[in-house]
Amino acid sequence: MKDSLEKLRAEFTEAVKTVSNSEALEALRIEFLGRKGKLAEILIGLPELAGDARKEAGILGNEVKRALEAGFADLTETIRKSELSAARDREWIDISRPGTEPGVGHLHPVSQAVQEILGIFSGLGFSRARTPEVEWDYYAFEALNMPKGHVARDEWETFFMADGEKIAEEAKGKIVLTPHTSNSQVREIEKKQFPIRMININKCYRRQSDLRHAPMFHQFEGLLIDKEISIADLRGTLDYFAKAFFGPNRVTRLRPHHFRFTEPSFEIDISCGLCNGTGKLEDGTVCRMCKRGWLELGGAGMVHPNVLKAGGLDPATCSGFAFGWGIERTLMMKSGMNIDDIRILYRNDLRFLKQF
Ligand code: DAH
Repeated sequence: MKDSLEKLRAEFTEAVKTVSNSEALEALRIEFLGRKGKLAEILIGLPELAGDARKEAGILGNEVKRALEAGFADLTETIRKSELSAARDREWIDISRPGTEPGVGHLHPVSQAVQEILGIFSGLGFSRARTPEVEWDYYAFEALNMPKGHVARDEWETFFMADGEKIAEEAKGKIVLTPHTSNSQVREIEKKQFPIRMININKCYRRQSDLRHAPMFHQFEGLLIDKEISIADLRGTLDYFAKAFFGPNRVTRLRPHHFRFTEPSFEIDISCGLCNGTGKLEDGTVCRMCKRGWLELGGAGMVHPNVLKAGGLDPATCSGFAFGWGIERTLMMKSGMNIDDIRILYRNDLRFLKQF
């Protein structure tokens, strides 16, 4: 047995030389020191030896075992170091190299416009109201001075919800998808927090789809109610917005119009940025962007007494103005996007969206 042990020690010394990585090292450990390894196999015969022979073989067995273990420990350390330094060479990175930027997206141009518009009006003290997209006919029409069956309603090609009538026990009429953001007016007045300076941006739905209309679009609605509010306040506010959003050289004009919920009512135009409101380009040709120097923005007016009353206010003691415009259209006027189909905004074509 002593011979076998010495031979094993020698064999181990040789074997160690061939090991160069941690897998081979582990295989070697199992081969020599494992539970069924070479050393264990030799020592199996130990109990059969007699007296002194057993004692000596036992001592030598322990010695060889410790020698093997020490050899392993040394080798483990050597291999660990060499593997580490190999990994360092392999995985070395040059931290002075410029990084690769992860591809972060950006907000949709309509969301960008929403944020910018909100920012401008919040600077004037307007705060954002939230109103439902699925709304009572009452707030969308009736409270806005458009009784049931009134022809003025025809202007809004409204989506009515199926079964809306059945749920109408609150006497607020049918249920509609908001055809405009003006539904926010009486909802806001009903809150009875004065003075009112509301900006409401929401989705609107109309049964329309062509180059200039999408069935879902956005409007922003402003409402200001206080004491002694006049058309001058409306103009001042709109001019401020036009300059902040479109640029310092732009001006607005009011054109008489008719809406049921404002009196007087106006269409708001903004001077064209391309021809500077002249209707003619520098080379004398007619500007094709606008109509004689003006672009139509949207509706506005002084809140109709019936609307104030519908919200529980007394028209004798307060007055206000309101305006409501399409976001997509406003955005297109600003950027000179020059797109011939508004619906492209909602086609999710990244080649288009990435430009903004
Ligand atoms: N709600 C109207 C529409 O969708 C626009 C409008 C006109 C809003 C006049 C107003 C207003 O607040 O005063 O066509």
